[in-house]
Amino acid sequence: MNTDSNRKEIVLSGIRSTGNLHLGNYYGALRKFVKIQDDFDCRFFIADLHALTTNPDPQELHANVKKILAEYLAAGIDPEKATIFIQSDVPEIAEMYLLLNMHVGIGELMRTTSFKDKARKALGLTAASDDDDEIEKQICGVETNRRVNAGLLTYPTLMAVDILIQKATKVPVGKDQLQHLELTRRFARRFNSFYNVDDFPEPYDFDFGGAPVKVPGLDGSGKMGKSEGNCIYLVDEPKALRKKVMRAVTDEGPQAPNSPMNEPVANLFSLLELTSTPEIVKQFRDAYADCSIRYGDLKKQLAEDILAVTTPIRERVNDILADEDYLRRVVAQGAEKARDAASKTLADVRRIMGIRKF
Ligand code: TYM
Repeated sequence: MNTDSNRKEIVLSGIRSTGNLHLGNYYGALRKFVKIQDDFDCRFFIADLHALTTNPDPQELHANVKKILAEYLAAGIDPEKATIFIQSDVPEIAEMYLLLNMHVGIGELMRTTSFKDKARKALGLTAASDDDDEIEKQICGVETNRRVNAGLLTYPTLMAVDILIQKATKVPVGKDQLQHLELTRRFARRFNSFYNVDDFPEPYDFDFGGAPVKVPGLDGSGKMGKSEGNCIYLVDEPKALRKKVMRAVTDEGPQAPNSPMNEPVANLFSLLELTSTPEIVKQFRDAYADCSIRYGDLKKQLAEDILAVTTPIRERVNDILADEDYLRRVVAQGAEKARDAASKTLADVRRIMGIRKF
C-alpha cells in the first residue's frame, strides 16, 4: 500500500457492473486509471449499486462484478498502488445517499440527460419524443410508473456520494459523465453553504493531456455503449473482433477530393486516432482526402491496432478470474480502506445534519 497516500490528491472513479468492459470504458476511464495510479491516491470501484437501477438478474450481477474486477486487474490496476473496492461493500455510501437526497431537487434530477435517455428507453419512447412533458406524463402514468424506478432518478445523488464520501477532487471519466460531475459540484456547494461548513471539496473531471473522450460505436452513430449493442469488448476473441470491425458502417466513399466526412466514417477515424499511431492516421486521412481510400484497408488496420491494445488484457483475464482467493483478498483490502475514509465523512455528515447520539 502506498505510504504517501495521505499527501496525494484523491482520485475516484467507478464503472457499473453491467457486463464486460468495452473500448468506451477503456478509453474513457480504465486506461487513465492505470496511468495515474502511481501519482495520486487512487480509489477505483465497481458500481454494483448503480447497476441495480436497471434491475439485472441477481446471478448475472454478481458474475459481472467479478468480471470487471478481473478486467481492472488484467488492464494493470495494481491493488498495492490503488484501492480497488466494490461499492456495496461500503454501506456508508447507502446511508449518505439517503442523507444527501434531502438536499437534492426532483426537478434537477428529472432534467438530467442520462435520466431522460434511460427513462425514454425504459418507456419505449423514440428519440423523436424528446419532449420533457411527454416523458414526465408517461413516468407518472399509472401503468408505466414501475418501469422508471426511483433509483434511476436518484442515480446522480448516489454518484455524488461515491465521490464526496471519499473527498475526491479528481474524477477520471468519459464525456457522458460530465453532467453528473457538475451536479456533484452543485450538491457539494449546496451542502457546504446550507450548513455553513467547508466539508466537501468540488471534484473535477481528470484527463491528463486533453478533454474527456466519447468513443463512438461502429454502427454509424452515437457512442459505444452496452445498451446500444455496438460494443467492442476488451475480451473479444480476435476473430470476433475483426468481424465486428469489418462490419462497421461506412458509405460509398469520398466522391470528390477533400469531401466532408459522414458520421460513420468520421467515427472510424476517431477510433483509429485512439488506437493507432499519428503516422497511420495521417496516411488514411490523406487517402480519404485524395479519394484513394479503401475502407477495407482502414478497417483491417483498425482491427489489428485494437487487438494490440486488447490482447494482453484478454490473455490475463481468465487466469485472474480463476484465482478466487486473490480476488477476495483484493476487494477485502480495498473495502477496508474505502470504509475507513467513508466512515469518517459519514460521521461528520451525520453530526453536521444534527443526527447525534444521546
Ligand atoms: P459507466 O459504467 O456507464 O461507464 C464507466 C466509464 O466509462 C466511460 N464510458 C465512455 N467513455 C467514452 N466513450 C464511451 N463510449 C463510453 N462509455 C462509457 C464513462 O464515461 C465512465 O467513465 N455513473 C458512472 C459510474 C459511476 C462513477 C461514480 C464514475 C458511479 N459512481 C463516481 C465516477 C465517479 C457510469 O455509469 O459509468
